[in-house]
Amino acid sequence: MNFLHYQNGHLLADQIAIDDLAKQYGTPLYVYSADYITQQFLAYKHALIHRKHLICYAVKANSNLAVLQLLVKLGSGFDIVSQGELERVLKAGADPKKVVFSGVAKSIVEIERALQVGIKCFNVESEAELYRINDIAKRLGKVAAISLRINPDVDAKTHPYISTGLRENKFGISYQLAIEVYRQAKALSNINIVGIDCHIGSQLTELSPFLDAAERILLLVDKLKSENIQIQHIDLGGGLGVCYDDEQPPSASLLMTELLKKLAHYPDLEVIFEPGRSIVANAGLLITKVEYTKHQDDNHFAIVDAGMNDLIRPALYKAWMRILPEKEQQAEDKTFIYNVVGPICESSDVLAYQRELSVKQDDLVVICSAGAYGFSMASNYNSHPRPAEVMLIDQQQHKLIRQRETFDDLWRGEHVF
Ligand code: LLP
Repeated sequence: MNFLHYQNGHLLADQIAIDDLAKQYGTPLYVYSADYITQQFLAYKHALIHRKHLICYAVKANSNLAVLQLLVKLGSGFDIVSQGELERVLKAGADPKKVVFSGVAKSIVEIERALQVGIKCFNVESEAELYRINDIAKRLGKVAAISLRINPDVDAKTHPYISTGLRENKFGISYQLAIEVYRQAKALSNINIVGIDCHIGSQLTELSPFLDAAERILLLVDKLKSENIQIQHIDLGGGLGVCYDDEQPPSASLLMTELLKKLAHYPDLEVIFEPGRSIVANAGLLITKVEYTKHQDDNHFAIVDAGMNDLIRPALYKAWMRILPEKEQQAEDKTFIYNVVGPICESSDVLAYQRELSVKQDDLVVICSAGAYGFSMASNYNSHPRPAEVMLIDQQQHKLIRQRETFDDLWRGEHVF
């Protein structure tokens, strides 16, 4: 992560001392670099400059309004999966015409709202959803722009929990049924077919699954053309991985370049991507404080104030995330092999296993690459208020973009007898 570095033995994010951030805002604390987010977004944009395209940032990765607003300013569109995400992007100033709506369980109310604000496209995930959208559009006197999310049945070679493009996954319409469902869509009065869509998984570190999926989707575009169904855009989903440890995913620009080669014979197709993680993961970190160290038998624990409630990725996916001490470790420092654990009453509340660290009570440590699926998956389990979020701007400045929750926030909406 290139915005983190040590200076005079202490860790800085951009030009700002981690220690100062922790003092000012408390811990646990999420911190995001606006410059880094901008750079990642522009990498996609520049690679697509000669092609009609729309980058639809996947809101689920990090849905803070300030992050969304930054992306709005950069010209981003958005991939949403709920009305909550729709309301967020509208609040952040997004143009609804740049919003695509994914997700397997769109409710009537969600579809109504999306039709009323006039989104770009529904990424339809089942026949039943297609008929529901048509009925609602008819009732509202609207025509719904749709694409079908097709499951290309390729192996994304990633963690099974974040692989979505296999036949057995709940997502999308099966490849074999695709043409038939498009025929049905064509016959519906209030449906306008505009696109075709797929998303095969997340944290993909190889090019080949993307290219295989694109090839299979393009075969369908050809077949549809022969049936007089004109596809205007191809949405290839998100999924590009990032480096947490030693992974070497292709860069956004290499991925785009290789995909554009596949699309060379389709110059009129608008290209849509839905990147989430690759835009925000390495732009973010979670600062946490060591409350205690505990040494028993051969087990060494660094017990920190952030837990699986704040950052669930290690517990849920056994995800490996880098831990950096705020004080630069020196060769002569006494270290232990620690399990870095949180305050939650679950044995799975482990942020990192077996890390060689030299830390003591009240020290700060930083969990890297926490900008994606960090805060957005956080909960109040064990009645912990969720952390504050801070944005670093222009290297030198920092701004609170979400205040730490209060105890009142914890029981807002609850009633006692
Ligand atoms: N489009 C669709 C339809 C998706 O379902 C997703 C992610 C994306 C785009 C964005 O994928 P990305 O570029 O971020 O890989 N919580 C997990 C990741 C779940 C991804 C869900 N879908 C994690 O922390 O690894």
